[in-house]
This record gives sequence, C-alpha cells and structure tokens, in this order.
Amino acid sequence: MHTEHANPEVAAAPARPRIDRRTLITAALATGAGAAGAAAFTRAPHRSPAGPPPPAAVPFHGARQSGPTHPQLPVTRLLALDLPGDAGRDALRGLLASLGAVLAGAADGSLGDARLTGTPPVTSLVAVGPGLAGRLRLDVPEALTELPAFAGDRLEPARGGGDLLVQLAAEQPWTTGILTEHLVTAAGRAGAAVRWSQAGFLPPAAGGETPRNLFGFKDGTANPAPDDPGLWGPPGPHADGTVLVYRRIRMDTAAFAALPKERRDLVMGRRADTGAPLTGHAEHDEPDIYAKHPDGSYVIPATSHVRLSSPRLDGGARMLRRSWSYDDGPADRGLLFCAFLRDPALFTRVQTRLAERDALTPFLTHNASATAWVLPGAHGGRDLGAGL
Ligand code: HEM
Repeated sequence: MHTEHANPEVAAAPARPRIDRRTLITAALATGAGAAGAAAFTRAPHRSPAGPPPPAAVPFHGARQSGPTHPQLPVTRLLALDLPGDAGRDALRGLLASLGAVLAGAADGSLGDARLTGTPPVTSLVAVGPGLAGRLRLDVPEALTELPAFAGDRLEPARGGGDLLVQLAAEQPWTTGILTEHLVTAAGRAGAAVRWSQAGFLPPAAGGETPRNLFGFKDGTANPAPDDPGLWGPPGPHADGTVLVYRRIRMDTAAFAALPKERRDLVMGRRADTGAPLTGHAEHDEPDIYAKHPDGSYVIPATSHVRLSSPRLDGGARMLRRSWSYDDGPADRGLLFCAFLRDPALFTRVQTRLAERDALTPFLTHNASATAWVLPGAHGGRDLGAGL
C-alpha cells in the first residue's frame, strides 16, 4: 500500500505505520489541531512506566478533512452511499449534516456509545461522486469526472461508484465497525442507501518502517507530503478539497511469489528486501529511470512499475498514494488503491501506461473504481459541504 515516508525519529512507535513527526505536525496544523494536537502526537513515543499513553484523538474540524492529511491508521472502512434519483439539495444537506455529526462525535468522543471507550483516534473523509455533482449541479471542480475504461478492467459496478464516499480509519476494526453502524443508521434516516462497503488494513510495520503490500514490497516510499499544494484545489472555493481516486485491485499473490526473486525486483524496479530502487542503495534514493546498462537496456526496466508510474513521465506531477490491503478470502486479496490529487487526469495517464505495459499488470485485476471530490473540512462555522 502507499503511505508516506518513514521517519527514524519516531521509530519507537511499534505497529503504527510510520507516524512521522513532520507529517504529524503538518497534519495537525492542516486539520486544525494546532500546537496542542501536534504536541500530543510528538509525545507518543515516550512510554510511561504505566504503559503507553492512549493515542491522541484526531480533530474532525479543520481546514482540510483528516482522511487525506493525517498519517494512515492501520484499519480502514470505505462506505459508498446513494441518494434517490429525485433527491434534491436539501436531501444532500441533511445527509451531510447527519454524517458530519457522527464523524465529529467519533472524533471528540461525544457519540455516547459505551462500546467506544476513551476517544480512539479516528480519521475520516466525506467525498461527493461525479454523478451526484452532475445531477444537483454542485459546485465541484470541472476535473471531477468518472474515469475512462482501461485495458484489462474487470469492474463490478456494485463495488464501485456512489453518490457519496465516506472513509474511516482507526486503530482497530472494532472502532471502524461501530462507527460504520452509526453512519449507516444516520444515512438511512437521511434517505440514503448503502451502495457498497469495503474494509482494509495495513500490516504492522516495526520501528516505523514502510509497510509492505501483499507482494511483499515496501509500498509508499515515494510520495509527496500531504500538504503539497499540487494535491489540493486552487485558491478559491475549492482550496482545501482534493479528488480521491479509488481502485479495488485483486492481486495474484501466489503467481507473483512463484517468480524468482531477481525477476520480482525487475518487475517492480525496486528491491524487495530494502525497497531501494535498482539504481540506488537505500530505500529513499531517487530512482534514476534513465540509467542504462552498458548494453543500452534500462537498469530500471522499461516495463517496470516504478518506471511507468514515475512522475518524470508526467512533468513531475504527483499523486498522494494512501492505500490499504484487503483480504476477502483466499481468492480475493489485494490493494485498496487510494490516491489524492487535484486532477484525476494524472491517474488516467499513469494507469493507461500501467494497463498497457506494466510487467505487474498480469498479476492484477482492477475490479472496482470510484472518483469523488473530497470536501474542504468543516471549519470556522463552515459546515461540511457548505461550498457546494
Ligand atoms: C496492486 C497494485 C499496485 C501495487 C502492488 C503497487 C506497488 C507499488 C510499489 C511497490 C511501488 C514502489 C514503492 C513506492 O514508491 O511506493 C509503487 C510506486 C508507485 N505506484 Fe504503484 N502499485 C500498484 C498500483 C498502482 C496504480 C494503479 C497506480 C496509479 C495508476 C500506481 C502508481 C504508483 C506511483 C505513482 C508510484 C511512485 C513512483 C515514483 O514516484 O517512483 N500504483 N507502487
């Protein structure tokens, strides 16, 4: 899965994928947590004799929603909702208010559900799909469109799309499960129906290391910082919003594992053991996609995943990849690819190259897809979706 860089400064935080001090502070500021929240995060590695302090709550209110900005928590739940075709803006306003109330209550512990002890950290996002935006003529960026069909897609409509996407992340499936109950009840009362729902997880990553995906590779090494301005809407009404691209990708883990180790590294363009690019020695060395062997062939092969997804082929444009693995039985395991970017056209360009030439593609099946406008955060008297 794709997450942001590891930071050895917080290596003491076990089983929490890369809680990076700089990212945490950035995230705390971006989500409005301010100095108090940032201080709480940076205290986390210091253990008291009575055991570790409880993980800090993540505020719901902030200029940006916490889902794309806060470091990934190990468990996720995506929930897609549909409104009736004749529902108007009032119905959407009511639905957003109901969902926002649950998410705010989840974040500050005021939900009143005795099963949730303390205030477990929860991150969330609410995003509007292009279909609903078109029906209600909502003010979303023009860039928000459905994705085109890609070669090899095997999309199951019942697993993708949706008028509204909600994504939760927490430390435990217990928490996301209970919160999903509340969200589904609130959505039903506001006239919306569940379209699909999907659970995912990150593996434990010892010492803040980059987590590995189900192919065994470190995944999430090369990523922009969550506050990179290129990911967010331009100044104006769309500032502090971003587009989510979701793909549910089944991975043939047995077939990939059957390749010799050297071949697996060549397919990816990085080494499975260290995560280093084939042109470097350390995980965070910049891949040199133009380096060649004396015989003229590329060191990072022309069909490798890292070469074909390189920002160098897109004028430096980057997406923030924050994905989770999923396991829905022995024949259905893979990656919940989630990327945040200003314009999904970047995803389309990259995925077009991958679908046609990536040596990883024969081991993958894209079986669901969605795009959605991640609303600016509820902040300073502005409700979720106020700008729509
Ligand atoms: C199950 C499917 C996938 C797997 C297992 C996978 C795995 C990986 C791995 C191991 C890396 C190298 C480490 C890193 O920088 O994160 C990587 C990089 C990357 N992947 Fe994927 N990936 C998948 C699907 C996709 C898709 C669908 C896209 C976009 C269309 C994508 C875009 C990228 C990008 C942009 C990079 C970073 C390239 C760079 O900056 O060097 N990946 N992926």
